[in-house]
Amino acid sequence: MHVPLREGIDWVGYVDWTVRDFHSYNTERGTTYNAYLIRDEQTALIDTVKEPFGNDLLANVSALVDPAKVDWVVCNHAEPDHSGVLPQILAAMPNATLVCNAKCLLALSKHFDTAGWKTKIVAPGDVLSLGKRTLEFINTPMAHWPESMFTYIRQEKILFSMDAFGQHCATTERFDDENCIGTVLEEARTYYANILMPYGTSTAKAMASVTDLEIEMIATSHGVIWRSHIPQILDAYRQWTSGKYQPKIIILYDTMWESTAAMARAFEEGAAHPGVHVKVIHVRRNSLTTIAADVFDAAAVAIGSATLNGTMMPQLGAAFCYLEGLKPTAKAAVGFGSYGWGRGSAEAIQEGLERLKWNVLRAPIKAQYKPTPEILEECRAAGALLARKALDMSGAAG
Ligand code: FEO
Repeated sequence: MHVPLREGIDWVGYVDWTVRDFHSYNTERGTTYNAYLIRDEQTALIDTVKEPFGNDLLANVSALVDPAKVDWVVCNHAEPDHSGVLPQILAAMPNATLVCNAKCLLALSKHFDTAGWKTKIVAPGDVLSLGKRTLEFINTPMAHWPESMFTYIRQEKILFSMDAFGQHCATTERFDDENCIGTVLEEARTYYANILMPYGTSTAKAMASVTDLEIEMIATSHGVIWRSHIPQILDAYRQWTSGKYQPKIIILYDTMWESTAAMARAFEEGAAHPGVHVKVIHVRRNSLTTIAADVFDAAAVAIGSATLNGTMMPQLGAAFCYLEGLKPTAKAAVGFGSYGWGRGSAEAIQEGLERLKWNVLRAPIKAQYKPTPEILEECRAAGALLARKALDMSGAAG
């Protein structure tokens, strides 16, 4: 299968309908690994796909050109979902030279035996002429890995943006305007939260490096190609990378015998306020992937757990571990939990909030076995405090 972007420029990647776990990212809608073939006086393949889909990529290329006639294979990013089939592809394209930056070649050499590969190292601003068109290379370190790079075709106003602006979303249609744009933007947001959030500053720099370029298409490495909604995705990335808070409270909890659930509901009641969005998330009923997407731009968070074996329940521990790595902007936060005897979950949650360096507004609220009416009222008051903070932090107070 191949899909034209322009005359002589085709998508030749792979649609992965069945993947549901992408290194712990819950890919409910599958994904795509996008590769692009440019046929000019010389022929270039931009990016490849994940193993074991090399034969699919080669079939797509072969429908357009003899692989032996491919002159260049550009590697914008060394992560294996885009480079895993490079040994197979370069063997099938014996006249091709691999084009990448120096950091990329170093990373590839750790993954593969690159000794026999023909390579061309490019530096920022380098231009490779294919004939009527040129490829320009823009280093975008840490968006997503140190070697990450964009490739730009000035004559076509197409930016090949690697992971940036991507979405884990398998579809038959390759362009944004052929799909439900709400779904595409939701998946782009989930992708940003789970993949690029720790590198928000680097991603903002990557965007700044292309602000002067005329762009009519953003050909990402995952999901649909942007051509009709470019302002929306750029605006969304500007907001996501800014660290700006939304007037939103996340109440994240786990429960054993419904005591902590009752406390979570009391937080929800107290947080109810015009202009404040409140979302209650049972940590075992939602994936870490969607939790990260919900938490990342929230101004305030309440986190609670029943006590299990003297600490918080394990899936909440996993959520803390994941959030510590993703490093969302600091939230206003309150911990809560129930316990039976001895040290409990509330203390472990407090320690977790401190590790996250969030602004913990008060001591955790604790209930022994069952929350009393007084403790539930304390939860409501803490919810109201979080609502006021959320309005202040997001600039929505007024
Ligand atoms: Fe899709 Fe960072 O790889």
